[in-house]
Amino acid sequence: MNDKIKILEDKKAEALLGGGQKRIDAQHKKGKLTARERVHFLMDEGSFEEIGMFVQHRSNDFGLDKEKYLGDGVVTGYGNVNGRLTYVFSQDFTVFGGSLSETHAEKICKIMDLAMKNGAPVIGLNDSGGARIQEGVVSLGGYADIFYRNVRSSGVIPQLSAIMGPCAGGAVYSPAITDFILMVENTSYMFVTGPNVVKTVTHEEVTSEELGGAITHASKSGVTHFACANEVEAINYLKQLLSYVPQNCEEDAPSVPYEIGNELRPELNTIIPNNANQPYDIREVIEKVIDTDTFFEVHKLFAENIVVGFGRLAGRSIGIVANQPAVLAGVLDIHSSTKAARFVRFCDSFNIPLLVFEDVPGFLPGTDQEWNAIITNGAKLLYAFSEATVPRITVITRKAYGGAYDVMNSKHIGADMNFAWPSSEIAVMGAKGAAEIIFKAEIAAAKDKDAKWKEKEAEYQAMFANPYRAAERGFVDEVIKPEETRIKLIKAFKMLENKVDNLPKKKHGNIPL
Ligand code: HXC
Repeated sequence: MNDKIKILEDKKAEALLGGGQKRIDAQHKKGKLTARERVHFLMDEGSFEEIGMFVQHRSNDFGLDKEKYLGDGVVTGYGNVNGRLTYVFSQDFTVFGGSLSETHAEKICKIMDLAMKNGAPVIGLNDSGGARIQEGVVSLGGYADIFYRNVRSSGVIPQLSAIMGPCAGGAVYSPAITDFILMVENTSYMFVTGPNVVKTVTHEEVTSEELGGAITHASKSGVTHFACANEVEAINYLKQLLSYVPQNCEEDAPSVPYEIGNELRPELNTIIPNNANQPYDIREVIEKVIDTDTFFEVHKLFAENIVVGFGRLAGRSIGIVANQPAVLAGVLDIHSSTKAARFVRFCDSFNIPLLVFEDVPGFLPGTDQEWNAIITNGAKLLYAFSEATVPRITVITRKAYGGAYDVMNSKHIGADMNFAWPSSEIAVMGAKGAAEIIFKAEIAAAKDKDAKWKEKEAEYQAMFANPYRAAERGFVDEVIKPEETRIKLIKAFKMLENKVDNLPKKKHGNIPL
């Protein structure tokens, strides 16, 4: 027996070395961790159980029958993250550049299937040269098997992707379907076609980092939700992210114990500037309303005119969507609408209640917006809120103008509770524009047109630039002092704890894509 155990131990030791020490050293030289080191940092100490350690590829072409590695370039298994069951696959760049073979794909599919059957998240740590070139279409089939599972799992279990090396060609579409992408600055990139092809086709000269690095995708395309300074930071973000999210769509959002005390926050009374056109940072409001140091911002560098992220309120996980008056006056545009819509749909899929802070002057005008379909894209946010069945609460801090008023989780599209601060202005448009239109003739006939305009503007302002017209109608449930916001929200979310709401029976909706 001892001989046999020795064989097993030797095999395990061989598997642990992946593509060999030389390639491990090369990986470290690039400032990257190995696939196993990443799993080690991710999973709770001693909890990781590997599956498929001895799997090998089946290819005989191009001399591959003479080059085999135990595990075939991906470490797969399960363990605990923050004490909760989580499945992981981690591509091993030291074996054929982490490229995806038929068996490599089978290993990933196996743990994705287990995750679905057992209702737990899947984390993919991606570091791969793409399809195993020697295997041809068999490898492409493997990718499609993964994509199919990504789609089937979407909205059932959380799926997170960390990009820690190359991720190019069709391979990008697995992370793209998952719920969140994290990229590591300077060592990871994602693109459909690389710099060489780009140069040939469009004559643009661009580096990999410029074309598809972490900062590019975090700020320009929005493909990644997080740009991380290094791999350890990325792994910490993964852990933090999971702490706000239930294991699957059947479970409630996680909460931590909290005892209610003095929940008044007088600091909130002084954040809104006296001049309605002066910006302020909505993050200040968010941070003072929710539990201390619990705000976990998502998509921070993309479409900064809207802020989204997770937080805790009296210990309970919530999703926050907030217009950001400090950037473009908090206007809704194509990117901010799609960013918020995707976040709202994630929260709704996973039973995470939604809190909305509204200060929005309207939709951004211009040919760029119209020609690139602000109509279709703005509709995504309207659709996402309207179909969300989780508890939904809005706090209007200042402006709620025009169509944007309707879109930002208004009462009319199913919000459960709508609060407004006394500084709220809820109207079809700003007073200046409104006066110009409805008092056009009067202004034109006046001797001093400017003075008339100002007079009419003040008239409109006095009538509509407040929350009381909306409160009279019940469109706002309560006008509250800013300092009361936290306690009002704690009570309202508690009241909504057992909310049941279902969409009409349908195959699926047809969100305007
Ligand atoms: C097989 C591969 C490989 C691949 C890399 N290797 N990519 N083996 N299939 N796709 C191997 C290399 O031969 C090398 O083996 C080792 O991995 C490390 O590669 P290097 O080139 O030395 O590393 P580096 O300089 O860091 O460059 C990494 C790289 C480059 C940028 C990823 O290897 C590269 O461009 N690879 C090809 C990428 C590609 O075209 N993939 C197919 C894309 S199409 P040794 O033995 O020397 O260690 C695609 C379609 C998916 O993926 C479609 C899904 C629908």
